[in-house]
Amino acid sequence: MAMIAAKCPEYTILVVDINKARIRAWNSKTLPVFEPGLLELVLSCRGRNLFFSTDIKGGIQKADIIFVSVNTPTKTSGVGAGMAADLQYWEKTAREIKKYSNTPKIIVEKSTLPVKTAQAMEEILKADNDVSFEVLSNPEFLAEGTAVSDLMNPDRVLIGSRETKEGISARSELVDIYAHWVPREKIITSNIWSSELSKLVANAFLAQRLSSINAISAICEKTDAKVDEVALAVGLDSRIGNKFLRASLGFGGSCFEKDILNLSYLASCYNLPEVASYWKSVIEMNYYQKDRFVKKVISAMWNTLAGKKIAILGFAFKANTGDTRESPAIFVAKRLLVEGARLAITDPKATGQAKHDLRGERGDIVYGTDPYNAAKDADAILVCTEWDEYRELDYKRIYKSMRKPAFIFDGRNILDHSALHTIGFNVYPLGSPALTHFAD
Ligand code: UGA
Repeated sequence: MAMIAAKCPEYTILVVDINKARIRAWNSKTLPVFEPGLLELVLSCRGRNLFFSTDIKGGIQKADIIFVSVNTPTKTSGVGAGMAADLQYWEKTAREIKKYSNTPKIIVEKSTLPVKTAQAMEEILKADNDVSFEVLSNPEFLAEGTAVSDLMNPDRVLIGSRETKEGISARSELVDIYAHWVPREKIITSNIWSSELSKLVANAFLAQRLSSINAISAICEKTDAKVDEVALAVGLDSRIGNKFLRASLGFGGSCFEKDILNLSYLASCYNLPEVASYWKSVIEMNYYQKDRFVKKVISAMWNTLAGKKIAILGFAFKANTGDTRESPAIFVAKRLLVEGARLAITDPKATGQAKHDLRGERGDIVYGTDPYNAAKDADAILVCTEWDEYRELDYKRIYKSMRKPAFIFDGRNILDHSALHTIGFNVYPLGSPALTHFAD
C-alpha cells in the first residue's frame, strides 16, 4: 500500500487494522516489520496520501477499492487441520465489509487463498444485499528482505477477475493503478481461478527447487561432489536457470510450507491423491534436510551434546529480515536443547523474536547480537542464517576463543571452508564432504 501511495499521489490509501499497537507502530518511526527501504518509503507519503488507523468502519465506507490482506494460517483443528488454510479472519473481514458498505466496491484478494475463495467471498458479500461488489484476485509475489525492490520492479503483476463486463472493467481499474510504475507488458490478467491458483503454484515451484537441491546436497556429501558446483553447472542451462538453487539446512518462512500444504489439501479434496502426495513430498524433504543437519551435528560431536556450548549464528528464516516464522533455526535449537546443549543465539535482527519462539523450552539459552560473545568458549558454531556479516567475521579470533576441538557447521554454505579448516576448525559444509583434523 505504501508503494501504491508513493507512485499514485492522486489516490488516498487508508490502511486499517484491528491491532492498535501495530497501527501505532505504523504511525511511528519504528515500523512493526524490518524491511530495507520501507521506512523511507512510508515516510515519503505518510500523512500525505497514506494513512494508518483502526477505524475499520470508516475505512470501509470511504473506500472504492478494498485490498483484503488478512492472514490465512494453516488450520490447527477440525477438518483439514494441519493442511487447509484457516479462513476465519478472511470470512470475518468479508462480513464486516458487507456490514459497513453503502456504495459499490471492488474487493481485491491480496491474502494467499485456496482456489475458489473468490466465489465464497462473492456469496457472502452478495447475500441479502443491494450494494454491488466485484471481487478480484491480485496475489502478492514479493519476498521478505527485498520487498521494496520487488514491489518497485516486479517480474509480473497478476490480476484475475470474472470474465464478465463488470469483472473486466474492475480489473482495468486495478491495471491502471499498477501501470503508474509497472510496464504494461508485465501486468498480466487472467480468469480469477487461474490467478488464485498461480500464487500457490509459484510458491510450490520455488519450494520444490529448494527441496530438489537440498536432496542433491545429501548425495554430494556422500560422493565428494560439491552442491554449489552442481548447482552452477545445472543452473547455467537456461531452461533451468540459476536462481533459488542455494542448498541450505532447510527453507523457512511463513509461506512455503503453508501454501504447499494448502495446495496438497486442495488436491486431496478434488480426489487427486497422487498430486497431493507429490507436493507433500516437498515438505517432507524439507523436514528431512533439517533433521539431517541436526543429526550431522550430533554424530560429528561423538553423539553427545550434553553440557556443550553451541553458538547459533542467525535465527531469522533468511537474511535481511527479523522474521523467524518457520525458521529452520527454531527446529535446530529445540532439538539441540533436547540433547542437553547450552545455546548462545545471535542474530542482528531476530533475538527478541527468538526468545519468544523458544519461550517455555527447557535448557540453558543466552541471546545477544554479538557473534564473538556467542562463540566464546563454545564447542561448535552453527550458521543458520546467511547474514553477510557472518562471512566477514574474524574466524582466527573466534577459533582462539573456543573450546577445542572446535567445530563449525555451515548450514548456509556461506563461509570459506578450506580457510576455516586451515585455521584449525573441523568444518562441516552443506553438500560437500567434511574437512576435519580427525584420523578418518
Ligand atoms: C516467498 C516467495 O519467494 C515470494 O515470491 C512470495 O511472495 C512469498 O514467499 C509469499 O508468499 O509471501 P519469502 O518467504 O519472503 O518469499 O522468502 P524466500 O526468499 O522465498 O525464502 C524462503 C526460504 O527459502 C528462506 O528460508 C530462504 O533462506 C530459503 N532459500 C531461498 C534457500 O534455502 N535457498 C535459496 O536459494 C533461496
